[in-house]
Amino acid sequence: MAKKKIYITREVPEIALKMLKKYKDFDVRMYRGDKKIPRRILLNNVKGCHGILSILTEKIDAQVMDAAGPNLKVISNFAVGFDNVDLKAAKERGIRVGNTPAPEVSQSVAEFTFALLMARTRRIVESDRFTRLGKYEEWDPLLMLGRDVYNKTIGIVGLGRIGQEVAKRAGKGFNMKILYTDIARNPKFEKEYKAKKTTLPLLLKNADYVTLHVPLLPATRHLISTKELKRMKKTAYLINTARGPVVDEKALLKALYKNEIAGAALDVYECEPAIDCDPHDRYELRKLSNVIITPHIASATIEARDAMARLAAQNIIGVLKNKKAPALIKIK
Ligand code: GLV
Repeated sequence: MAKKKIYITREVPEIALKMLKKYKDFDVRMYRGDKKIPRRILLNNVKGCHGILSILTEKIDAQVMDAAGPNLKVISNFAVGFDNVDLKAAKERGIRVGNTPAPEVSQSVAEFTFALLMARTRRIVESDRFTRLGKYEEWDPLLMLGRDVYNKTIGIVGLGRIGQEVAKRAGKGFNMKILYTDIARNPKFEKEYKAKKTTLPLLLKNADYVTLHVPLLPATRHLISTKELKRMKKTAYLINTARGPVVDEKALLKALYKNEIAGAALDVYECEPAIDCDPHDRYELRKLSNVIITPHIASATIEARDAMARLAAQNIIGVLKNKKAPALIKIK
């Protein structure tokens, strides 16, 4: 009997390969280049595949699905977000799509969100640079003043799995007041963590820290733009560990240059992997000292990556072996 071909588009933790290779009727291949797979090679290597384990940097669209051909039954995206996969095209072709919302991922993204929040408000990156440059000469009461987190208000935009983990840390660890927006109300969570559902304008007006945890959808693209930034307190910080295009980067740059908000900490970018959408713009994120920028690593822990690898493999096994696939996306 012909084997079922599975293609992994970039090196992922070995556990995924191990799990898939247990099935003797699976022929598992993985792209081992140290950079993102070139599109031409991707289109060639997926030919005849039954399953693709994809990475969020690859656009998995109708062209890739058609290059794979009619055998393709499952696309398992190694990420929580799945804005890189054309869900409509998948549905039209009867292809199931999975993602990797493991609890470990929510925890590591929430921890990283807090790391960014603390690092920004306590100016840790700036202070590190300052110290390395030999500028620390003597203790100074006014040196590198930041703001406290304890008892402040956090505004969580999107109270899904990750937003909830952020809220738990904010409420239990730092006694913060929690405001959130979401399509659904979560009364149980509200009670346990003293969280309050509100509108986006009110959240922006009242929060000292605004953190984004929504998926990238047409409705969330540029959710934070000029009007929203103007609503924020001058002393507030914006943290984005979700997806870059949720923030209108040009508007954010302007607000940061004009000190309309206190600062930002960004792990994702509108034109990722480019840090600035317009390299000729006189405003540049990299030049700002009131911003921390990191290379999309919010879920980059060994625990989270292993959990993602396991879940990504289970999604493929589930679909191809008619077993329960743990994280398939309901495509409307
Ligand atoms: C990372 O950004 C993910 O969606 O898992």
